[in-house]
Amino acid sequence: MTADGLPMTVPAPGLPARVRIHEVGARDGLQNEKATVPTEVKAEFVRRLAEAGLTTIEATSFVHPKWVPQLADAEQLYPLVRDLEGVELPVLVPNDRGLDRALALGARRIAVFASATESFARANLNRTVDEALAMFAPVVSRAKAEGGHVRGYLSMCFGDPWEGPVPAPQVVRACTALMDMGCDELSLGDTIGVATPGQVTALLTALNEAGVATDRIGVHFHDTYGQALANTYAALQHGVTTVDASAGGLGGCPYAKSATGNLATEDLVWMLQGLGIDTGVDLGRLVATSAWMADRLGRPSPSRTVRALSHKDPQEQ
Ligand code: HMG
Ligand code: MG
Repeated sequence: MTADGLPMTVPAPGLPARVRIHEVGARDGLQNEKATVPTEVKAEFVRRLAEAGLTTIEATSFVHPKWVPQLADAEQLYPLVRDLEGVELPVLVPNDRGLDRALALGARRIAVFASATESFARANLNRTVDEALAMFAPVVSRAKAEGGHVRGYLSMCFGDPWEGPVPAPQVVRACTALMDMGCDELSLGDTIGVATPGQVTALLTALNEAGVATDRIGVHFHDTYGQALANTYAALQHGVTTVDASAGGLGGCPYAKSATGNLATEDLVWMLQGLGIDTGVDLGRLVATSAWMADRLGRPSPSRTVRALSHKDPQEQ
């Protein structure tokens, strides 16, 4: 580690020069908090993330407020952050009603969220896999007609708490359906954090073989079994340049009980910076933001990097 608290930079061959971090802490992180975070604190969190150099910050969800009460203030929050310079603020939208709400506030970057498995489609969307895809199709085409950019999340791409391992062809089928309806990019969710690197490479290869180009694919790893960074490295080796992460490692999923926090953005930035991969993120400011948020939430951040860099006395590290 260098004197200014950064990793030593030693590039490895065959990796991308730049990675876009899709920051999900304000959405995937806060949707899972038991206590609802006040709207002004959420807005401050988003502003601080932007000041730390993140340029894609998922802000909230226009879902049914009874399903995710933690994000029921989407109408109040979005106007507080929408004018941030140079920042994309995607929002989750499950259906026409959600899209109406998002468009009315000027949001044009949206994400639909499908499931590779029937059990999670039912738990998260009250639909079968195909019913959920049918619900998304008009949302995607209307958002595109409004000049929007649409991300298609797919959950349970590697394993499912009710159904176990998920076969790659099942995942590929749902991914191609999302691409065929007009999604600009995919995000492959390891919702419960069970994937291992070989499985990641195999799924990316299967998607390429089905005609989905790597530059349309992002990865979204939860860190339940400590595999999120290893899985990210496998994706980078495959050429993936969009990686989802959550500041401070906040997160989980209210409708997948075994899901824990996402890959922590700080842990990701530490690795990418060490590899000489540009992210535009100022690690010190990001750590300060997560430490600030941890204080608001009343518990320490689960991110190893936040803990290490928040340590007051360097002798004790
Ligand atoms: P439903 O109960 O089937 O809804 O829920 P419905 O279509 O039957 O409508 C029932 C009522 O809800 C109607 O009102 C609608 O207007 C209203 P009524 O006519 O009875 O008065 N309604 C809405 N109100 C406000 N906003 C809306 C909306 N939609 C309907 N958007 C629904 C279906 C999809 C709405 C529900 O299941 C839902 O909101 N689910 C969201 C669950 C969620 O947000 N989960 C977390 C995000 S996914 C995730 O975290 C995974 C990810 O991180 C990737 C990974 O890790 O894998 C992305
Ligand atoms: Mg998630």
